[in-house]
Amino acid sequence: MQAWVIGNWKQNPATSHEVDVLLDDLCAAMNTAKQISHDNFAHCQIMVAPSLIHLAAVQARLKDTPILCAAQDISAHSASTGAYTGECSAQQIADVGATWTILGHSERRQYHQESNDILLQKMTHALSQKLGVVFCIGETQAQYDAKQTLTVLDNQLTVVKALIDQQPELLDTLSTRLIIAYEPVWAIGTGKVPTVSEVSATHKHIKQTLAEFADSQANMTVLYGGSVNADNADSFAADPMIDGALVGGASLKAESFLTIASAFDK
Ligand code: PGA
Repeated sequence: MQAWVIGNWKQNPATSHEVDVLLDDLCAAMNTAKQISHDNFAHCQIMVAPSLIHLAAVQARLKDTPILCAAQDISAHSASTGAYTGECSAQQIADVGATWTILGHSERRQYHQESNDILLQKMTHALSQKLGVVFCIGETQAQYDAKQTLTVLDNQLTVVKALIDQQPELLDTLSTRLIIAYEPVWAIGTGKVPTVSEVSATHKHIKQTLAEFADSQANMTVLYGGSVNADNADSFAADPMIDGALVGGASLKAESFLTIASAFDK
C-alpha cells in the first residue's frame, strides 16, 4: 500500500518570499533524493496544504513535481459560487489545480465550531468537485484521560457513514478519494505523542469501523498526526497499521518533512 505524508502548513509561512524559499528547498531536496535513489519517493505520496492565499502559487510551482497540493478547508455553503463573504469553494480550489482538501482539522472544529453536519456538507461539496478529502478525527486530552477515544472517533466517523448512505454510488472510488487522519488533539503541536501501539490499535479500530460501513472501505488509508517529526517518524512508519503522517510544524522545513516522507517510503 502506498504511504502518504502530508504537510499542513496552517497559517504559515508569513510571507510569499518564505513560501518560495520553502518550495526551493523542497524541490532541491527532491532532486537530490532522485539522483541518489532514482525512484523519487515511489512508495510515498507527498502532499502539502498551504494557506489559501498561497495555494495557487504553490500549485503552479509544484505541478511538474510528484508533490500534490491540497487546501486546508473549503466552504460548506456551496460547492461553486454564491454570496458567502470570506469563503472559498471546492470548485475554486479545484480550478487552481489543487486535488485534495483537508477537512475537520481539530483547529477548525475548535475555532470554527465545525459540527458533523457541516463536515458532511463540506465532504459532499469536495467530492462533487472531484477533490479528495483528508478527514481529520481525534479526541481531546480530557476525552483521552476518560478513555473515551474510540467513542469520540466513532461519533466523528458517522460523517463517513452518512455520506455513504446518501451517495452509495461513491463507494466504488471512495477508498482512493478519502483519507482518514487520526490526530489526538492533545498531541498536536505539543511534542507529546501516544505510543505506537496505542496509535496502531486505534487505527485498527478505525479500519474495522469503516469496513462495517461497507466492505469496500476496509483498505482506507489511515494516517497519524500530532507532533510527528524527523526523530519519531521511523517508529510510526514501522507499524503496518499506520499508512503515513499528517505533519504540521515539521512540514515547514524541507529537511525534516522529507526525512519523515523517507521513513514512510519503504
Ligand atoms: P503538528 O501538527 O505536527 O505540529 O503537531 C499536526 C497537525 O495539526 O496536523
